[in-house]
Amino acid sequence: MSAESAAKRIAWLAREIRAADALYYQDDNPALSDADYDTLRRELIALEAEFPHLIHKDSPTQSVGAKPSGRFGKVKHVVPMLSLDNAFSDEDVVDFCARVKRFLSLPSETNIAFTAEPKIDGLSAALRYENGKFIKGSTRGDGQIGEDITANLATLDTVPKVLSGQGWPEVLEIRGEVYIDHADFETMNASQVAAGKAEYKNPRNAAAGSLRQIDPSVTASRPLKFFAYTWGDVSAPFAETQIDAVRRMADWGFDVNPQMRRHDNPKEMVAHYAEILNARAGLGYDIDGVVYKVDDLALQDRLGFVSRAPRWAIAHKFPAEKAITIVEAIDIQLGRTGSLTPVARLTPITVGGVVVSNATLHNADEIERLGVKVGDSVEIQRAGDVIPQVLRVVKPSDKDPFVFPSQCPICAAPVTSDIDTKTGRQDVVRRCTNGLSCPAQAVQGLVHFVSRQVFDIDGLGERQIEAFYEKDLIREPADIFTLRSRNSEIQLETWEGFGETSATKLFDAIDARRSIPFDRVLYSLGIRHVGRTNSRLIAQHFTSWKMFWTAVPELQNPVSDPYMSLLGIDGMGQAALGSLAEFFASDANYKIVENLVQHLDIQDAEAPTSDSPVAGKVVVFTGKLERFSRDEAKARAQSLGAKVSGSVSSKTDYLVAGPGAGSKLKKAESLGVNVMTEDAWLELIT
Ligand code: IVH
Repeated sequence: MSAESAAKRIAWLAREIRAADALYYQDDNPALSDADYDTLRRELIALEAEFPHLIHKDSPTQSVGAKPSGRFGKVKHVVPMLSLDNAFSDEDVVDFCARVKRFLSLPSETNIAFTAEPKIDGLSAALRYENGKFIKGSTRGDGQIGEDITANLATLDTVPKVLSGQGWPEVLEIRGEVYIDHADFETMNASQVAAGKAEYKNPRNAAAGSLRQIDPSVTASRPLKFFAYTWGDVSAPFAETQIDAVRRMADWGFDVNPQMRRHDNPKEMVAHYAEILNARAGLGYDIDGVVYKVDDLALQDRLGFVSRAPRWAIAHKFPAEKAITIVEAIDIQLGRTGSLTPVARLTPITVGGVVVSNATLHNADEIERLGVKVGDSVEIQRAGDVIPQVLRVVKPSDKDPFVFPSQCPICAAPVTSDIDTKTGRQDVVRRCTNGLSCPAQAVQGLVHFVSRQVFDIDGLGERQIEAFYEKDLIREPADIFTLRSRNSEIQLETWEGFGETSATKLFDAIDARRSIPFDRVLYSLGIRHVGRTNSRLIAQHFTSWKMFWTAVPELQNPVSDPYMSLLGIDGMGQAALGSLAEFFASDANYKIVENLVQHLDIQDAEAPTSDSPVAGKVVVFTGKLERFSRDEAKARAQSLGAKVSGSVSSKTDYLVAGPGAGSKLKKAESLGVNVMTEDAWLELIT
């Protein structure tokens, strides 16, 4: 590279890194993945080493305290850090309590105790203590892996370095929320203003930025506090109820929320919610709802988790905050599956501490229902992390009504809507009919393919995909895997934004993903309703890609064995199966997948890690179960690694039959399947 192009590249890299740092540290709103960030930094370091006279004193590589690469170490959570399901009304809370009882097979008139406490609007953190000493602190991250922020958390007065009292388990991981209270937030912003710096948007952002400082002395200067409310990895149980567990945490020196109480029924719970909502403004810190938890820890254990949230807890959210603003334009956004979503571009307005400039209008019917047009003044609402919504038109403008396009705004193909197979009604969502021939859908599909949770290819993001797509170099996923071999024509190293190093890095990153788990390959295809969870379920069902691929043609036949057995998987719905079948009914899609898998070494789905005798076995429950609800029986079987199916076939290992069993029992008997009572099943699994 010439010194001139090196100087340009160095300036560009420095700018990108500085911008990424600002978003990461000041706004806690990372624009780049850690890997992309590291790639930029490494390239800058390499270039500066080659052209030392071009090192600028303000270069991000010269700033004191910045790590040469990466930011924080990673911490794998022994017990995943989950999120909570939401309730938005008193009825949702009543339903939640009923659901809990149903799952536990308890009569509806039984009272179960629940705790209720404020949902703190901060950042969750996990604090690990060994023999009473604080040894590691981490962020939640993606729930499985967080960042190691031990040094920063150690600066908080409310994080005990040594536990008080006695009786703590040898290993004790306390979890809770880091936050900044209102008074401290005001003081913090006043000094930002005095120093001529931008104010923080809200206490949560200020807390997030303060917690993830590279230099712990900066964190120490910020007024962060910690409320403890739950726990993760522990070497021994330390309480029998939620409320006692929290009392013990208080004895060991943690701040716990004084508003926590225990209730016997939904009526008391919602009354407490109303009380907390009333007290909200005077609490002195931000809360965004009330969390209810089943008090009895043995019941919590039985209830377990579904997907990423516990069945034993729910967050009752406060009503959304509202504001009035003007619709400046209505744009159409195209999704990966071709859906056309109208978006209102708004005159920016602060709602609940956050600046809102876009709100979703969902679909054509919603626009009609609202009667919204460009120029209207509208009421909008924002609830937690949910995308802002338009509630109603407050003052209409004299502009013409919005006309929903009948053609795709990107490729001009006609727009249609599906017919719901169940209701026979037309779906409200309009879709572009051009499938992967629509550039927007193709690009969005490819962006999904390379994204974090799917193929996770470092250095290949939306911008790069668009560039490759426009130049006709990547049109389908398989093309990604032939980039390196085509590089003598492509000459990626000469492209703007790429150098020798970053081109090689990209090819290496692609090669690193040739070996990939089965479920990711399935998820990568972007089939409607076949998201992460369903992909995992399907992969676990077939175990190997080969078995799946053999079954694919049979998916067109809804009475075939593969179709029926997939339908029996707990959690898989007709919609997912229907769209899986529809996807492979297209020769073009079939070919795209065939082309792709040639380049891959697809790893079998992980066998369930369980030494239970039912691990890997297919079990069907039928008739009335007397010890458990059907849901609990299924969840228990699955947690032991069994596959629960809804129909009996030659693949069924056990049929657990309660009173009233009928046709399934007959079929199982005729197929020679092992039939057992609920008691025999219980004996087998315990
Ligand atoms: S309990 C298994 N209690 O809310 C889930 N969470 O939306 C255990 N949060 O990630 C969480 N206040 O960061 C719980 N009193 C409280 C909470 C609380 C705030 C946060 C927490 C969690 C998020 C879920």
